[in-house]
Amino acid sequence: MSKVAVVTGGTRGIGEAISLALKELGYTIAANYAGNEEKARAFTDRTGIASFRWDVGDHQACLDGCAEVAEKLGPIDVVVNNAGITRDGVLARMSFEDWNDVMRINLGGCFNMAKATFGDMRERGWGRIVNIGSVNGQAGQYGQVNYAAAKSGIHGFTKALAQEGAKYGITVNAIAPGYIDTDMVAAVPAAVLEKIVAKIPVGRLGHAHEIARGVAFLCSEEAAFITGSTLSINGGQHMY
Ligand code: CAA
Repeated sequence: MSKVAVVTGGTRGIGEAISLALKELGYTIAANYAGNEEKARAFTDRTGIASFRWDVGDHQACLDGCAEVAEKLGPIDVVVNNAGITRDGVLARMSFEDWNDVMRINLGGCFNMAKATFGDMRERGWGRIVNIGSVNGQAGQYGQVNYAAAKSGIHGFTKALAQEGAKYGITVNAIAPGYIDTDMVAAVPAAVLEKIVAKIPVGRLGHAHEIARGVAFLCSEEAAFITGSTLSINGGQHMY
C-alpha cells in the first residue's frame, strides 16, 4: 500500500511542488489548505490530488483534519509542515496580531500537526516529518521579527522532536529554503528584492521544485539515518 503524506499549504507555491513531487514517487497525498477554495479546487482538478481545508494554527482543526485524512486515505506516514504566512514590518509598526498570527500558524502549526500524527506513527514504528523553515530563521531578516522567530523556532522544534522520534523509526528534519520564486517572495517590494538577490551567490531566486526534491529525499527510506538535521537550499545566500 502506498504511503500517505499530508502536505500543509500543499496546493500552492512550494507546497504544490512538494505535493506533486511526492505523488510522482507513489505517495498518496492529502494537500491541506487554509482558505483559497478556488485555487484548491483548481489544483485538485488539475492534479487529482485530494485537498482538505483546515487552519493549521487551530489545534482542534488539525486533530479533526488529520483524522478525516486517515479515514479517507489511510494512516498518515509523512507530514510536511509547509504552511506559512508573512506579516512583514519593522518592530515599531508590527502589531501584536501580526506577531501572534505568524507564531500561531508558522510555528504553532508544526506543533499541532505533530500532535495529530506522531502517536500513530510511533505505534506503527515508522514516520517522516519534514518542517519547512527558512534562511530568515537562520540569519534573521530586517522587518521580520515574527517570521524569523517562528522559523528559527521550527529549527529548534525539529531537533527536539527528532530525539523523541528516533527510537520509533520516525525522522524529523527541516529544510531551510532561501528566496524562492513564489507569491510570498513576489510580495517583497521590488527594490528590496533586487538587493537580496544581488547577495545570492547563485544569482537567482530558487524554484519550488528545488525545495520539493529535498523534501522527497528526506522522506525516502534511504534517508533513515538523517534526523534532526536542516538542509539549507538557498543558492549560497547563507552558509550555516
Ligand atoms: N537593513 C538595514 N536597513 C534596512 C534594510 C535592511 N535589510 N531594509 C530596509 N532598511 C532601511 C531602509 O533603507 C529605510 O531606511 P531610511 O528610512 O533611512 O531610508 C528604512 O529601513 C525603512 O525601509 P522601508 O522603506 O523598506 O520600510 P517600510 O516600513 O516601508 O518596509 C519592510 C519595511 C516591510 C520590512 C520592507 O523593507 C520589506 O518588505 N522588506 C522585505 C522583508 C523580506 O525580505 N521579507 C521576506 C518575505 S519572503 C519570505 O519570508 C520567504 C522566506 O522564507 C525567505
